[in-house]
Amino acid sequence: MIRYYENIDISERNSFHVRQVAKRLVEFDRAEELPELFERYGSESWYVLSGGNNILFTKDVEQLLITPCDDRIEVISESETAVRVKVGAGVEWDDLVAWSVERELWGIENLSLIPGKAGAAPVQNIGAYGVEAKDTIRAVEMYFVEGGNFVTLAAEHCGFGYRESVFKHSLKGRVIITAIEIELSKTPNPRLGYGDVVREVEARGGATLANIRDAICSIRRSKLPDTAVLGNAGSFFKNPVVESEVAERLLAKYPDMPHYPAQEEGKVKLAAGWLIDKAGMKGAKKGNVAVHERQALVLVNLGGATGSEVIEFAYEVVATVKERFAIEISPEVNIL
Ligand code: EPU
Repeated sequence: MIRYYENIDISERNSFHVRQVAKRLVEFDRAEELPELFERYGSESWYVLSGGNNILFTKDVEQLLITPCDDRIEVISESETAVRVKVGAGVEWDDLVAWSVERELWGIENLSLIPGKAGAAPVQNIGAYGVEAKDTIRAVEMYFVEGGNFVTLAAEHCGFGYRESVFKHSLKGRVIITAIEIELSKTPNPRLGYGDVVREVEARGGATLANIRDAICSIRRSKLPDTAVLGNAGSFFKNPVVESEVAERLLAKYPDMPHYPAQEEGKVKLAAGWLIDKAGMKGAKKGNVAVHERQALVLVNLGGATGSEVIEFAYEVVATVKERFAIEISPEVNIL
């Protein structure tokens, strides 16, 4: 079914809860409805509003907003060792994780409690605790708006990298993701190497899927603010990837600085949260916007903040980090 709204308040459709109005918004349940949707409501300018968990609206929206609502999870093939699953773009990501953990299927348990919908997962290749969506995504199904045709793109053509994919670049504004196909394993494969994960899992009695999910949920809840209580979009900034000489220069001065090997050779990934924290901005506040007091990577709406207030404050954070470390951090959140 297709549902059409006009002049709709979208404050409950974005996790920052900024109060803006969308001139036109349309929800659809099935991929097959997209040709009709574009015929009836199509405009030159449209934007996919999925769960609204990684977006900051800075003004009212003139573009047609399109929200995929297909929430089906379907097993499409099964072998002795693995299961391939088709997941509608409108499935809540964490419901998918719960579904796989209940069925003793391995692969996405470390991605527990990441807010957002399955269709958004490949766009920024969501990741946490040493695992990324690309590790299980095998294909992405989409509708090509220009051509009016459906395409299934194999994962190797999706250009996945750290918080990166073709959907942020060459396919941006051209396709609507309708489903993802993931492969989950029946063979246990615990990945506990990140931060406090191993300790939290051991404290629960060992590396079962249920224990890993529980541990990750508890770590996330302790650091990340609940969007229902405090508007936010998770990590506001990306962790910067810098030349190894830059990291070495900083390490000489700050030997305890967290750093990780980057996917690109000769580069190092730094922790934006640590940089912001060390620059003295953790808990900093301006008007209705603040740097979260338990995780400096997250900006929060203390209540009633506008998108432009958030962005203005975000650039103050960027400037302070730059002044202190000569490193430019950049937003991970989409700004509209
Ligand atoms: N740190 C601080 N102060 C802070 C925050 C972090 O010193 O206020 C230090 C931590 O102690 C740690 C390092 O910085 O040594 C990294 O912090 P953390 O492990 O909390 O993770 P992160 O690198 O800041 C990334 C993802 C998160 C994901 C976590 C866990 C990005 C931009 N963020 O954060 O993803 O949950 O790893 O894997 O890559 C999101 O994308 O919305 C998100 C929450």
